[in-house]
Amino acid sequence: MQSSYHAIYERWRSDPLGFWAEAAEAIDWMKPADTVFDPAQGAYGRWFAGAQCNTCYNCLDRHVERGRKGQPAVIYDSPITGAKRTITYEELLSEVQALAQVLKDKGIAKGDRIIIYMPMVPEAVVAMLACARIGAIHSVVFGGFAAHELATRIDDCAPKLIIAASCGLEPGRIVAYKPLLDRAIAESRHKVTTTIILQREQHRCDLVEGRDFDYADAVAEARANGASVACEPMAATDPLYVLYTSGTTGQPKGVVRDNGGHMVALKWSMDAIYGVEPGEVFWAASDVGWVVGHSYIVYAPLLHGCTTILFEGKPVGTPDAGTFWRVISEHGVAALFTAPTAFRAIKKEDPAGKLVADYDLAGFRTLFLAGERADPDTIQWAERTLQVPVIDHWWQTETGWTIAGNPVGLGALPVKYGSPAVPMPGYDVQVLDDAGHGVPANTLGNIVVKLPLPPGCLPTLWNAEQRFRDAYLAEFPGYYKTADAGFVDEEGYLFIMARTDDIINVAGHRLSTGAMEEVCASHPDVAECAVIGISDKLKGQAPAGFLILNSGVSRDPAEIEKEVVALVREQIGPVAAFKIAIAVQRLPKTRSGKILRGTMQKIADGETWKMPATIDDPAVLEEIGAASASRPPDSRRSAR
Ligand code: COA
Ligand code: AMP
Repeated sequence: MQSSYHAIYERWRSDPLGFWAEAAEAIDWMKPADTVFDPAQGAYGRWFAGAQCNTCYNCLDRHVERGRKGQPAVIYDSPITGAKRTITYEELLSEVQALAQVLKDKGIAKGDRIIIYMPMVPEAVVAMLACARIGAIHSVVFGGFAAHELATRIDDCAPKLIIAASCGLEPGRIVAYKPLLDRAIAESRHKVTTTIILQREQHRCDLVEGRDFDYADAVAEARANGASVACEPMAATDPLYVLYTSGTTGQPKGVVRDNGGHMVALKWSMDAIYGVEPGEVFWAASDVGWVVGHSYIVYAPLLHGCTTILFEGKPVGTPDAGTFWRVISEHGVAALFTAPTAFRAIKKEDPAGKLVADYDLAGFRTLFLAGERADPDTIQWAERTLQVPVIDHWWQTETGWTIAGNPVGLGALPVKYGSPAVPMPGYDVQVLDDAGHGVPANTLGNIVVKLPLPPGCLPTLWNAEQRFRDAYLAEFPGYYKTADAGFVDEEGYLFIMARTDDIINVAGHRLSTGAMEEVCASHPDVAECAVIGISDKLKGQAPAGFLILNSGVSRDPAEIEKEVVALVREQIGPVAAFKIAIAVQRLPKTRSGKILRGTMQKIADGETWKMPATIDDPAVLEEIGAASASRPPDSRRSAR
């Protein structure tokens, strides 16, 4: 099929408002917008100002009303527990109504914040949609974060209530959530007085009298009382959720998502980018705690009337590297979306891809990868093994959907390995030098998006408008700074090469080295430190901490290194995957005292590097090289 991408992109360019007005027709509005885009509102304008709508209505009610009530909305498949459950649109609506009633009974109203701290169980989806139904703003916190990270989020968004589960399940390990929750509530300044706890049979927990309520009991009671909760009319510009993502300090950024623009963009993406029809099965193998989970496990597939898969497992080890193929064949998945690291994990276990032969993948059409750079080796292995197109696409928590991709629904463009292809309508992507001037094709620079950002992207940060302006809009006036560096080739294909800040990508998870440095530096024996991301053959990058110990310390440095590793796990959580801490005598610095992290990373990765002209003492770099060579050999080979 000839791709209509170029024509559609030009259509958007010539009439952006007409383009999005047309896309908005796929959404049911309670009241239409006064204007498609109001440039006077917010930091760079607001989409669908004056419109009223409800995201839960568009995800559930309208499908139930229009012939999809018996269609599976969610298929929960949990190889880690052995559980499987299919929930139809009608059943999901009923569960959402019941929980929405519980929330209302607990005094939750439009605009209140609710934190959801849950693993990959259907109740997490129910909780998100119940919030959307009554206009409460949810903030889902990933289960791999520890108590302190949860406390930071509690203090920032000041939730009236927390919905949590008693535990999550990692291979070979039960993650008890309740102690983490209790510790976070104790640590936070904002006091949470009500929680609803889903008791999982794998590990039940004690409930605090008067504060903690049993999820099943509360929902059963609401059902017995005939729960029926209408959808709250929301302004299109009202927040649907806040999702925290790594910033450059220990204080995460609360990315705000609105209701109207979000629905329009996601619905459009299902057709145009993913090429999936209503009624088909869509699987995002991620976690509801990440943006991919928000957009493509929950909202987009349901807005589109698809069946979404909720997979509680890992690509390998639950029970083997064939588990993805089993899910695809068993549930008739048309499109899978995951991070390249998942495929690197599968490839490591089953290099010849032999396990594919055990399953019928005839209905499977496309694999989508995002979250980190997709290395050509992994893409080609997936193409060979699965015999379907493998599509890399680039986006961020901030945008909530694709900035650049290869739009399968519009007809795929030729693939260029190493490139997530071309900008989507809505995004005028440009590459600028540090002074803000456009650079020629194939020249590395700062990737920016000309304002306004399209529908679905963040309008601001929660309670931090100035931080939003400073972090994203100030450096290149008139543009959104993606903080990714890269280039565009002569055919308009984008290549994303590196972050321009201290964010690293570990197993597709976005982490801040600055936040890790704050934790390392808090160890009483550490005087100074630098955390960098070094290449890792499975996870893409892995954090490594270089520590300078206080001068009077006489203890064995190895002991301190171990303590620092444990401290990061305890403060940030296991997801930080912080396993390498190395005590060194000195850190390489410029004469003005700036740590040369970029050079350290090149040395640690064994890449060629240039002696920085401004270095204070070149001999330090040899010490860093020797220290890096002492790290575990298994992690050393590059993923690139
Ligand atoms: N709750 C509690 N702990 C969690 C967790 C969760 N939800 N998710 C991960 N962790 C823990 C892991 O158990 C691991 O702990 P360990 O140090 O005791 O081994 C640690 O956090 C690091 O996790 P991770 O970096 O994910 O490594 P892993 O070895 O467990 O798994 C992959 C590696 C590649 C299999 C896994 O990261 C994966 O499937 N990634 C692809 C999909 C994805 O998550 N994409 C994200 C956005 S699209
Ligand atoms: P997150 O907010 O967790 O989605 O992480 C966003 C960051 O991940 C981006 O700014 C990029 O640095 C990186 N990223 C995401 N997708 C891709 C991709 N397809 N190619 C290269 N980098 C990517």
